[in-house]
Amino acid sequence: MKEASTAIKGGTSVTAPDVFKVANASIAFGGNQALNSVSFSMTKGQLLGLIGPNGSGKTTLLNATSGIYPLNQGTIHFEGASIEKSTPHVIARAGIARTFQIARIFPQMTALENMLAPGFTVRDSQSEDRITLIRRAREYLEFLDIDGFAHEQAADLSGGQRMLLQFARALMLKPRLMLLDEPFGGIHPLLVERILNRIGDLRGRGIDFIVVSHDLPTIMGLATRVIVLANGQLIADGTPDEVREDPGVIEAYLGV
Ligand SMILES: Nc1ncnc2c1ncn2[C@@H]1O[C@H](COP(=O)(O)OP(=O)(O)OP(=O)(O)O)[C@@H](O)[C@H]1O
Ligand SMILES: [Mg+2]
Repeated sequence: MKEASTAIKGGTSVTAPDVFKVANASIAFGGNQALNSVSFSMTKGQLLGLIGPNGSGKTTLLNATSGIYPLNQGTIHFEGASIEKSTPHVIARAGIARTFQIARIFPQMTALENMLAPGFTVRDSQSEDRITLIRRAREYLEFLDIDGFAHEQAADLSGGQRMLLQFARALMLKPRLMLLDEPFGGIHPLLVERILNRIGDLRGRGIDFIVVSHDLPTIMGLATRVIVLANGQLIADGTPDEVREDPGVIEAYLGV
């Protein structure tokens, strides 16, 4: 495993292993190279911001990580295990949960039923009885402050509330890594604030995050590290300050 960072503990140097690692990942849709040999890795405790212009491959990278699109080439490792050939179900069980750019909820179900929908509770569904599952679902709805909508039809929720609901639902998997695709896009600033606070709480409980966002001030304030895609290629990888000043990134965004 790559020596990604070192920390001094009691005078001894301890290497933090990569918890997540993508190597030479490529995906083409016909002649369109959506991901072109992308490589990066992250250690435990990081919050990785994933930015880049429209169509640069951010969602494709999350789709590949969650098993929705197979890679044409390359590898993805989570906690040392190769997952690039695994199905979404297996990856979810392994501890990676995600939210979608346009919230994917079941509009005809209540918020609580959405939390309990099959496929989203795979991790513990065999060992947990229904009462425990419901208790956990209510806890996460409360955690996101949407418990008052538990018995409302999801179709009646605002865009921001749907985003909170899919965030809460992702927690049902008890993930150790969460992939959030545009969690701040087009939602009320108060709800953005709430999501930011909850991400902070969850990081304190040991959950790592990869967050895709076009909201540069927000993601630069949140991320410990930022990677940048442009036309399917990784063009920068560094601290928010390093990436902000990178001429290649400025050019990719401004086209100058
Ligand atoms: N299922 C698909 N079939 C064909 N082409 C696709 C598919 N998904 C993505 N693409 C193409 O792959 C490229 C990368 O798309 P992707 O959705 O990953 O970009 P993105 O960085 O998430 O953009 P945005 O910021 O607009 O969400 C685009 O050219 C897109 O049209
Ligand atoms: Mg996208």
